[in-house]
Amino acid sequence: MPTGRMPGVRGDVREIPHLRPPVDLLEQPPCPFHANWSAATSSAPDGWSADMEVVILPGPDDCGRVVADILARAVGNGGAGTRPTLGLATGSSPLTAYRELIRRHREEGLSFAGVRTVNLDEYVGLPADHPESYRSVIRRELTAHLDISDDDVHGPDGSASDPLVAAREYEQQLRDGGPVAVQLLGIGANGHIGFNEPGSSLTSLTRVKTLTEQTRRDNARFFDSPDDVPRHVITQGLGTISRAQHLVLTASGAGKAAAVAAAVEGPLTASCPASVLQLHPHATVVEDEAAAAALERADYYRYTLEHKLPHQPF
Ligand code: F6R
Repeated sequence: MPTGRMPGVRGDVREIPHLRPPVDLLEQPPCPFHANWSAATSSAPDGWSADMEVVILPGPDDCGRVVADILARAVGNGGAGTRPTLGLATGSSPLTAYRELIRRHREEGLSFAGVRTVNLDEYVGLPADHPESYRSVIRRELTAHLDISDDDVHGPDGSASDPLVAAREYEQQLRDGGPVAVQLLGIGANGHIGFNEPGSSLTSLTRVKTLTEQTRRDNARFFDSPDDVPRHVITQGLGTISRAQHLVLTASGAGKAAAVAAAVEGPLTASCPASVLQLHPHATVVEDEAAAAALERADYYRYTLEHKLPHQPF
């Protein structure tokens, strides 16, 4: 935050009431950039360092199977006595993967015993038991069907009397909980991940964000009326998300094509928050043909996938 004179402003900005940042912002460390990136790289298992992997598959069910493979491997990798943490997203994109995990649990005995889950985000102002609160959605779409206890399903408290405090507390809870093994992500048509709308700092931490009107319109399908979509959310920041050991973004449908291309092949920029994946040591983008339609290097990604070595897992 500015601590002294700003061009065109006389005096110290902290003395001007409408420019004075909240006290807690002044108290934050000057710039979390280095802390976040070194945390991200050092939390990559076994010094893993790879390029972003782009996996193009025919349709959403194929994407769901690959994403489920990655999540199932993370659960299996935990080993006895460990409690792997999975980072979960809501919305339509992860649903095929969630259905596949539920199927494997029921039909193949895949166990999630001891697994903790952390949600990416939550609407501000919806009670936790509202059917569209992200806590309810994750329970309904996934965890209630697995051997994961409700006590191990975590998310921001969107109904807290002070959402700013709730956001800080969630950030602390995430830090205390240790590394997230895999963070699953969808992508907004405007390039958001979590609810880091365009313009979000690439090093941001968990905080309250105001949704764009486009995002509110996109999410209106889950509510009785577009006016019911909350305006504010608590979301993990881009720096928070980047601390996960493996980022897996999944997308399907033509409506995501421009955002996927900007995230994967565009410049690293806060204008496309998902482009932060380009900095991560282990990021996988799994999308169907329609969502891949605007990728310039699509043929190369397909070729790479076709010639993947047996010991090169996702
Ligand atoms: C949801 C979330 C959002 C969604 C994104 C895509 O927890 O964080 O970033 O992933 O808005 O939503 P869908 O998948 O519904 O298109």
